[in-house]
Amino acid sequence: MLKPLSKYFLPLFSGIILFSTISCKHEPETLPDPEIPIDTITTGIPCNPDTSYFQNDVLPILISSCAMSGCHDAASAQDGVVLISYQTVMTTGDVRPGNPGNSEIYEKITDNDPEDRMPPPPMQALSPDQIEVIRKWIAQGAKNNRCDSRCDTTLFTYSGVILPIIDNYCKGCHSGATPSGNVNLDSYAAVRTAAESGRLYGSVAHLTGYSPMPQGGKLSDCNITQIRKWIENGTPND
Ligand code: HEC
Repeated sequence: MLKPLSKYFLPLFSGIILFSTISCKHEPETLPDPEIPIDTITTGIPCNPDTSYFQNDVLPILISSCAMSGCHDAASAQDGVVLISYQTVMTTGDVRPGNPGNSEIYEKITDNDPEDRMPPPPMQALSPDQIEVIRKWIAQGAKNNRCDSRCDTTLFTYSGVILPIIDNYCKGCHSGATPSGNVNLDSYAAVRTAAESGRLYGSVAHLTGYSPMPQGGKLSDCNITQIRKWIENGTPND
């Protein structure tokens, strides 16, 4: 079991440092539609160390290691696979709840053949800990679950809190040459611009008049509060 901190930062670093300049090309494949489990998302649930949570643990890995531009973001959708939200993972990733061995996404990340493995070389394979997070999540029913205890609303610095949230939940779509909605979030200046326009908070808090973000999901109440406090504090680069 990973410690919460390393769990949080591993996918972040691998995404930024190793995988940023790569494009993905594969033969198209048609994937059968999986059955989507009932949406079980809730907040206020303390994190159980034996559970792998989609929103806390799995999605950040997918966003940072798979959903880059050119690969499995919404615009590129290589092989028709889009790994940016629970809905898209379940409809395009061929996940078989309870059965990792028959789930395409798990087969790909554990494939020994470099030609077939995801992420493809020269990107590094996911770490054994990241692979285990995904395996366990599928084995436990591939639910759209989330827990709350790894977040503290009294902490809201840019480098320690806001940037990791953006990297984990937003960058897959909002970076590169053609960011979604023409909203770029890949530098402090760009995030501050989005914050000062009201769009950053409006979108993550799902306020009327803004497109709800991240697409297909919602941050935890704690993360939303952290973003609000950082903005109220004057969006410092701290
Ligand atoms: C799956 C891709 C995807 C992810 C992940 C995503 N967005 Fe977006 N975002 C979009 C698209 C597409 C649009 C433009 C279309 C729309 O407005 O719905 C958009 C629009 C926006 C806008 C403009 C909204 C408005 O009403 O002006 C903001 C701000 C934004 N996103 C912020 C975020 C933040 C912050 C995150 C992470 C917490 C995030 N997005 C995650 C795809 C994404």
